[in-house]
Amino acid sequence: MSRVDELFAAAKAARENAYAPYSSFKVGAALLTEGGRIVPGCNVENAAYPEGVCAEAGAISAMVLAGEQRIAEVVVVADAALCTPCGGCRQKLKEFGIGSVKVHIANLDGIRRTFTIDELLPAGFALHD
Ligand code: THU
Repeated sequence: MSRVDELFAAAKAARENAYAPYSSFKVGAALLTEGGRIVPGCNVENAAYPEGVCAEAGAISAMVLAGEQRIAEVVVVADAALCTPCGGCRQKLKEFGIGSVKVHIANLDGIRRTFTIDELLPAGFALHD
């Protein structure tokens, strides 16, 4: 199994644990860290809607907690044609991954499109260039 296959499997499994009673839209994400670790995340919604957390954001928090701070590759899984990360998550991904990092967008059957972080967030903000 390739690392991307492993990422897809981890993201799909994470999606099963999503807490999405308000949107009924479950999302799973998995990060491959530069250290070779696979870190999953799922969306966790809240009755106060803006307090919900996206799958990508949850995975990033878990990655940092695990002691890693660099993203090498990402898979996002949803039961949708193309569940690309929201604007806030694009900025969060940029914080921990260089522009050429691949973000694979999958449905339940497999990867459907691949973008780089730079493609998802052109001219994105960085404090220090
Ligand atoms: N969501 C994610 O977790 N990741 C994405 O890439 C897009 C959207 C979540 C947020 C919310 O819980 C639900 O999907 C519907 O927007």
